[in-house]
Formats: sequence, structure tokens, C-alpha cells
Amino acid sequence: MGRFDGKVVLVTGGNRNTGLALVEKFAREGARVFMCGMSEASTAKGAEMLSMRGVEGVVSQPCDISDAAQVAALFDTIEREAGRLDILVNNAANQGLGHGGPLEMDAAKFHEVFNTNVIGGFQVTQMACNRFFMKQETRGSVVFLSSNTAKRAIRHRTAYCASKGAINSMVRALALDLAPLGIRVNCCAPGYINTERWDVLDPAKAARRRLNCPLRKEASGMDIANVVAFLASDDSANMTGEIVTCDAGCSCQHMPEDVDV
Ligand SMILES: NC(=O)c1ccc[n+]([C@@H]2O[C@H](COP(=O)([O-])OP(=O)(O)OC[C@H]3O[C@@H](n4cnc5c(N)ncnc54)[C@H](OP(=O)(O)O)[C@@H]3O)[C@@H](O)[C@H]2O)c1
Repeated sequence: MGRFDGKVVLVTGGNRNTGLALVEKFAREGARVFMCGMSEASTAKGAEMLSMRGVEGVVSQPCDISDAAQVAALFDTIEREAGRLDILVNNAANQGLGHGGPLEMDAAKFHEVFNTNVIGGFQVTQMACNRFFMKQETRGSVVFLSSNTAKRAIRHRTAYCASKGAINSMVRALALDLAPLGIRVNCCAPGYINTERWDVLDPAKAARRRLNCPLRKEASGMDIANVVAFLASDDSANMTGEIVTCDAGCSCQHMPEDVDV
């Protein structure tokens, strides 16, 4: 028997990298999973990759989560195909890469990052609550993906770091308002995750990143999926408003070992 037997789960950005592991985790533990990428092509590619991993029965539909009409259309599909929703994983993110430093970055790019990471995550959560959780006897559970960069910034990623800080605050605010309604909202804040971007990373840089981690390794997508599944499940039934860091110990150290004094 699977931990998520009979449960219906939506994973945004479930079509690549960490999102694929999240979809796989919930599907392998018995859930009916819906996932979206932003475009038709990226969503179809994700569906194909899941099928190649032997993960069957996943419903995929492209959806730009910053567009309320597209979010509504995705929820129409969930309503028609499953008639309920139990778990929402807000994983989709605009990484805000290539914006340059804060003095030269284009404000429009800042808006793009916030439109997906903060406003997008909010409107998917709001729709999950209004269209499903509030109408169901067993309410629902929401898990956001934040980042350890919300607390410890990385260079040239002002919009991204700020958006992840906003997610942490939003998780606590949502948790407070939704707790009396029986809806839990928690968050996983990863550090380095091994994604396809690591495949093209200079090996010396990858080694230096690992040296930066007290546990000497980046997370796999499944390491993150394990934390998210715990926060989504009844195993964390008495937790809400929590930000659980999963970063190989990066956040607990002052300096990496090779620069320590
Ligand atoms: N990778 C890391 O080291 C790391 C570290 C800390 C935190 N995180 C967080 O962990 C999560 C997963 O990270 P990742 O690196 O696996 O992500 P990723 O490879 O950058 O993938 C992002 C996903 O979000 C989707 N997406 C972007 N904008 C969207 C929009 N407006 N509407 C719908 N979907 C959209 C993308 O869809 P398309 O494929 O269609 O573009 C893609 O599926 C993210 O929240 C990220 O911020 C990652």
C-alpha cells in the first residue's frame, strides 16, 4: 500500500529536473499526479521522460502559472479527470539567470521572476483552496519550493533571492490564515540540487561546490522529493508554516572548510 494511495497531486514545473523526481515520488507512492511545464513542447518532453522512467498515468498540461486563465484551464482538467485535489507542490520557478548585477538589471526581468515565483505560486494555491480543498472533507496540503538563497544570497540573482525570501514569508502568512480551515502550508528550501545544468558544469566548479557542502554532495532530485513528500503527507500532520532546509549542511557553516580560519 502506498502512502499516497487515492490522493490527487499537482506538481507545477513537473516536466524537468527536480520536478520530474517530485512527480515520480508521488506517483510511485500511489498518487494520481498532474503536472505542468510552461510550454507545449517542454511539457510533452517531460511526459516522455516520465514514461521512459516507467512512471505511468501522469496527466500533463502546459500552464504558465503567471497567467490566471491558464491556471483555471489546468484546474478544469483536474476537475474533469479526477474531481478532487489533495496536495499542491509549488515547484515551478523562474531562476532569474543572466540578469546581471543590481545596477544594470532590467526591472521588467524582476517582474517576470516575481510573476512566476511569488504571484504564480500564490494564484495556484488560491485556486487549489477555492476549487478543491475548501469543498472537501479532507482538506489539503501545500508545499512550496523555496531556496537556501532566501537567507544566504548568491551573486547576480537579486530578483531570484528576493522572490524566495517572499515565498518564505508568504508560506508563514498563508499557513496562519489557512490553519483554522484545516489546510497546511509548508516549504522545502533546497541548496545545490543536481540538475541537467550540472551536466555542463566545469568539473572543477562542481568539485568546488561539493567542497562547499559539509556533507560533500549536492542533493539529488529524489533527496528533495523525499522532504517534500514528508511535508505533503500526514507524517507531518502537526506541522504548518515551516521552512525545512535541505542543503547538505551549507546553511549551518560559517565558511567552507578550505577557507576556514
Ligand atoms: N536547482 C537548484 O540547485 C535549486 C536550489 C535551490 C532551490 N531550487 C528550487 O527548487 C525548485 C526546482 O528547481 P529546478 O532547478 O529543478 O528547476 P528548473 O530546472 O529551473 O525548472 C523550472 C521548472 O519551472 C517551470 N516554470 C518556469 N516558469 C514557469 C511558469 N511561469 N509557469 C509554469 N512553469 C514554469 C519550468 O518549465 P519549462 O520547462 O516549461 O520552462 C520548469 O519545469 C525551484 O523552485 C527552484 O527555485 C533549486
